[in-house]
Amino acid sequence: MKTFYVTTPIYYANSLPHLGHLYTMVVADAVARSKRQQGIETFFLTGTDEHGINIERAAQKNGRTPQEQADYVVSYFKKMTAAFGLDTAHGGYDIFMRTTEPFHSEGLSELWRRVAKAKTPKGNDALYKGHYEGWFCAPCADYKTEDEYAKPENAGDPPNCLIHETKLDRVSEESYFFRLSDYDEALLGLYESRADFVRPEARRNEVKSFVAGGLRDLSVSRLRTSVSWGVPVPGDPNHTMYVWFDALTNYITAIGFGNEQQERQLGFEKFWPALHLMGKDILRFHAVYWPAFLMAAGVEQPRAIVAHGMWVDPTGRKMSKTLGNTIELDVLNKFFPIDTIRYFVLREMVFGQDGRFGYENLIDRTNSDLASGLGNLSSRTLTMIHRYSEGRIPDGTIADENRLAAKRAGVDDETAISDFISHARDEFLRYFADLAFSRALEEAWGVVARADKMISDAKPWELAKDASQRQTLNAVLYRAAESLRWLAAMLYPVMPTSANEIYQQLGLGNGVSKINPTHLRWGELGPGTQIQEVKPLFPRIDKAKTMDEIKKQEPGPGSQERREQRSEVSSQRSAERGSSATVREGVADSAQGSGQHTTEADAVPGVASYIEITDFAKIDLRVAEVKTAERIPKADKLLLLTVDIGEEKPRTILAGIAQYYEPENLVGRKIVVVANLKPRKLRGYESQGMLLAASVGDEGKPVIATFAEDVPNGARLK
Ligand code: MSP
Repeated sequence: MKTFYVTTPIYYANSLPHLGHLYTMVVADAVARSKRQQGIETFFLTGTDEHGINIERAAQKNGRTPQEQADYVVSYFKKMTAAFGLDTAHGGYDIFMRTTEPFHSEGLSELWRRVAKAKTPKGNDALYKGHYEGWFCAPCADYKTEDEYAKPENAGDPPNCLIHETKLDRVSEESYFFRLSDYDEALLGLYESRADFVRPEARRNEVKSFVAGGLRDLSVSRLRTSVSWGVPVPGDPNHTMYVWFDALTNYITAIGFGNEQQERQLGFEKFWPALHLMGKDILRFHAVYWPAFLMAAGVEQPRAIVAHGMWVDPTGRKMSKTLGNTIELDVLNKFFPIDTIRYFVLREMVFGQDGRFGYENLIDRTNSDLASGLGNLSSRTLTMIHRYSEGRIPDGTIADENRLAAKRAGVDDETAISDFISHARDEFLRYFADLAFSRALEEAWGVVARADKMISDAKPWELAKDASQRQTLNAVLYRAAESLRWLAAMLYPVMPTSANEIYQQLGLGNGVSKINPTHLRWGELGPGTQIQEVKPLFPRIDKAKTMDEIKKQEPGPGSQERREQRSEVSSQRSAERGSSATVREGVADSAQGSGQHTTEADAVPGVASYIEITDFAKIDLRVAEVKTAERIPKADKLLLLTVDIGEEKPRTILAGIAQYYEPENLVGRKIVVVANLKPRKLRGYESQGMLLAASVGDEGKPVIATFAEDVPNGARLK
């Protein structure tokens, strides 16, 4: 029996999950569903990383014990995964792994003992006791070398982590070391012999050059007096195991390595090796440290280490709580059906590269690809079957004598569409297996477009008026319905609820999760099948209204309190939801890249009150080129401009400069525009931004801000 094992990282139990965490879970969930659909027994792991100084500090800050802190975050995670249909009850993960489980400590201790006995490939002891002197970043749970931190402004202060911009801890203590420096050649050999071990290619190259640059031995324990919240080193309880050694090992203890409990229930041999999915932020731990630990312990290497990119905001900035641009799961859950979020993240992020996440893009894609695309294809097809075929799937065969008439009506031989769709299915599966979800979905949407075009060209509503075209009409309806059946089976791993809904509406019941898309054969949709009531799959989202409501919800930078009061995974919507989970929390910053931005209020004469740099960062200033400019009848102060700020379409802007500038002198000028100002209606025109100008003299004469050098349209000012 073939098996498959897929993992997400286990997330730090110091803070609540956000879009980034959700994303890796959605990817793993889609992979697991696709494997299961193909009849492969699959094990999907996610969970929490609960030991270490990070959790200890969050607990302290929240007035809890570390265990209470971990339990608290886990309860939120579980409600969140249930609300997003990712838990076991909804066909998602098989285990929610927790490193505070006793079976984990047992297996972890076994791994340590094995490593402690091991020799490196160069014949030295893999583990030795020494003294560590250096800097440690608690949020990264990582030791930092000189090129990985920023020197402090005041000599004597600790340096800052380049990722988190938080102060590093000085560590000077006895420590066990893992002799990583002896594993360089072995690791390079592994990357060489297994070209798809670290993926994608660009990441593999990064890892290779990191290792080729030489490895330093790794401190793998802390004194119990410095970090007490962790698993003691076997035989030396004054030491606590390093949190990454502890965390990575979860992937094997979960299925039974070194502990009977999980081994009996699941079986290490049965599921190992795993495909590890993670963000590129933690690739090094997975692609360098983890394989080296496994080599030392004599355990088989993972199936693959696959790193995806990070979600950034629509303007390309890293998401962080300080900037107030994180995507909160409770907001997402409240305003968007799960399947639209799943579709969006898998379609939008080219796997391996960073992706931009904005609610507006999510709404646009939902409306275009789902409401007008797949949803519309499904409802128009089913509605026509109700109307023209009494709600039963018609027989789609065209007798020889009717072929010519069908051709005249623009309806080809059936093989044209069946060949097209089976090729698209093959491509879809190939891309999906390569984790190129975006490409895979493009293939599927090629099928949507093909079926839509067939309907629009053939015009069933016209065919229905001509009795001699009955077979042509039936053929069109059959082909559209059969295309939908294929699409439902292909798309199930991406959009489980909607795929099932399509399948049900086609009269095929509840079992799309068991339809192996590789086995689909054209024509297996049975004529005579009674279809069900047509229900809209993806209602259109009113962009302006939804954006307004979302803005009311969004916590600004630093307004953690508002989030605490509001924070609620509002469950029960699309899937069969459990009870709604109310969560309030004040938690430490997560590893999403949050940092303590310092106030940049250096004394500036004449400025009455200071703003934080984060307030300034909220203003999206862009270089714009004036494309057209004209006066507005009966408005002597206003000019109507269209400006190009590097977007698909130019924007319209109204500016109160008509008394000072001739429109024709403005065309071609590069100006500065506030791009994220709420659009406003003036004199019947929508002004989608504001230009910047100095206000000069008593009468406030506007002088437009401009550039001395050439600058590209859309460039950001900061
Ligand atoms: N506890 C460690 C992992 C141990 S695994 C043995 C950890 N936890 S974390 O809570 O910081 O989660 C990091 C992971 O969350 C990333 O690798 C990625 O999977 C996901 N993401 C967090 N922020 C993200 C984005 N902004 N974008 C995409 N994924 C992100 O590291």
